[in-house]
Amino acid sequence: MQNLNEHNITDEVVRRFENAPNPPRLQAIMTSLIKHLHEFAREVHLTEDEWFQGIQFLTHVGQKCDDKRQEFILLSDTLGLSQLVVAQNHSRPPGVTEQTVFGPFHLNGAPHLSQGANIAEGVAGEPCFVSARVKSARGKPIAGATVDVWQAAADGFYDVQHPEWQEMKLRAVFKTDGEGCFRLRTIKPCSYPVPTDGPVGDMLHALNQNPYRPAHLHCMIQAEGYDRLITHVFVEGDTYLDSDAVFGVRSSCIGNYVRHEPGAAPDGTRLEVPFYTLDYEFVLQPLA
Ligand code: BEZ
Ligand code: FE
Repeated sequence: MQNLNEHNITDEVVRRFENAPNPPRLQAIMTSLIKHLHEFAREVHLTEDEWFQGIQFLTHVGQKCDDKRQEFILLSDTLGLSQLVVAQNHSRPPGVTEQTVFGPFHLNGAPHLSQGANIAEGVAGEPCFVSARVKSARGKPIAGATVDVWQAAADGFYDVQHPEWQEMKLRAVFKTDGEGCFRLRTIKPCSYPVPTDGPVGDMLHALNQNPYRPAHLHCMIQAEGYDRLITHVFVEGDTYLDSDAVFGVRSSCIGNYVRHEPGAAPDGTRLEVPFYTLDYEFVLQPLA
């Protein structure tokens, strides 16, 4: 078809994609994407200059990515798209732990540590002792579950962002014991800004958006017969709970980090500084 204009070009593009020998799901996704992209360009009456700026922005997002930095995930997170996709694929009945965004800072290959281990060895921050149980919605303890935890340091950086840290810190993998429990020592999480030294940071700045995430501990829990749980344990009272830069806060995932005066700690040591304890329960969703 020739002489296409702004009114009939969408139908022609969709028609051509219909003829492609593609799997039906890919065709459905591409058809919808084309329709929405075209409609967006019509709705805002996109100019050529503006579209070129958009292409330059996406080019910079790609150029910022390497094996330690994923600017496209950050873009998806800060546009709320990641949380939308999580929410529509992991709806949970009340009482089952809710899913949140994965974020770009999980690493495969974190050390497997034993019960009670300190994942913040040599890292400054307020000591925090986590004691948690993993169970089914019926209350059955889930033994042998794999629990990945990771968090930012008190200065707001993850280990991969620290130029002077060569090894992994503030992350580890634990196994739940026969009662479905795991314990660890860490530091109390702090709120921190998502990385703002790239094109996504420029976008947030241009749109006057808050770059901060409320303090949280990331957890990923895997057990046979259950949907993999990717979640956070947020810190009660945090300033950014209602303005999370990546829209990931679930009120059911706010933990009670209890402050204690210096003295006997849960691991049997004596601490000369105040410390925190977090007692928490994760409830897994069985696979359909
Ligand atoms: C995080 O919590 O680690 C995170 C999530 C989304 C974007 C940036 C960081
Ligand atoms: Fe985080």
